[in-house]
Amino acid sequence: MRKKIVAGNWKMNTTVQEGIKLAKAVSDMVSKLDNSNAKVAIAPPFTHLSEIAKVINPDYICLAAQNCASEEGGAYTGEVAPAMLAELGVMAVLVGHSERRAYYKEDHNTLAKKVKLVLKNDMKPIFCCGEVLEERENNIQNEIVSKQLEESLFHLSSDEILNCIIAYEPVWAIGTGKTATAMQAQEIHAYIRSLLINKYGAEIANEITILYGGSCKPSNAPELFSNSDVDGGLIGGAALKSEDFLGIIKAF
Ligand code: PGA
Repeated sequence: MRKKIVAGNWKMNTTVQEGIKLAKAVSDMVSKLDNSNAKVAIAPPFTHLSEIAKVINPDYICLAAQNCASEEGGAYTGEVAPAMLAELGVMAVLVGHSERRAYYKEDHNTLAKKVKLVLKNDMKPIFCCGEVLEERENNIQNEIVSKQLEESLFHLSSDEILNCIIAYEPVWAIGTGKTATAMQAQEIHAYIRSLLINKYGAEIANEITILYGGSCKPSNAPELFSNSDVDGGLIGGAALKSEDFLGIIKAF
């Protein structure tokens, strides 16, 4: 059975002290949940990771990073190598978030390299894909997502892909308050699963967690997560309030 996951992407929000408070609150709340069916992850900014690692209960929360370098180390001013993250106890790394693709022009080669390096350092890539509004309006979302997976993820072996998490995030739904309908989410998640089946076979495809991201909140999470191919969420805004984040986790 594939894992259900709720992951919080804090983006460039909170000071270190605010982040410690939020992480503690989330960790306390999640440890009190009797039998949550979902694994929980938080992805604070780089500067927060080592402090937050000290205050969360690793039995209940896993630490993730929002990005990493596409090189192992060396003269890359301002970058953070995957090995540096692994050393801090980071278990998963977001790769190819639409904000990184749009604002920092990360291309598919760079993303393919990051995915490999994250795996090499025994962490899980959370590979983000999704179309922009114009692409959805032209009904080419499947082609877009297929290309993104083909170019940056499908170079992996079966063993490697089994250690990846995919996050489908329609760009038009991120931080806009607009959410894909439960049916739109299920349709494209099932399509992504069909691509995985074609490439790796059904047994492997059925093991891979596919998250939905884009204005997910406690009120819409139950409907989104009730779909058979939606295995959880990548949560932005609502991950910054412990109650809202908990509300989403409880949707399982
Ligand atoms: P949002 O962000 O929940 O604020 O829409 C999701 C994301 O960017 O991962």
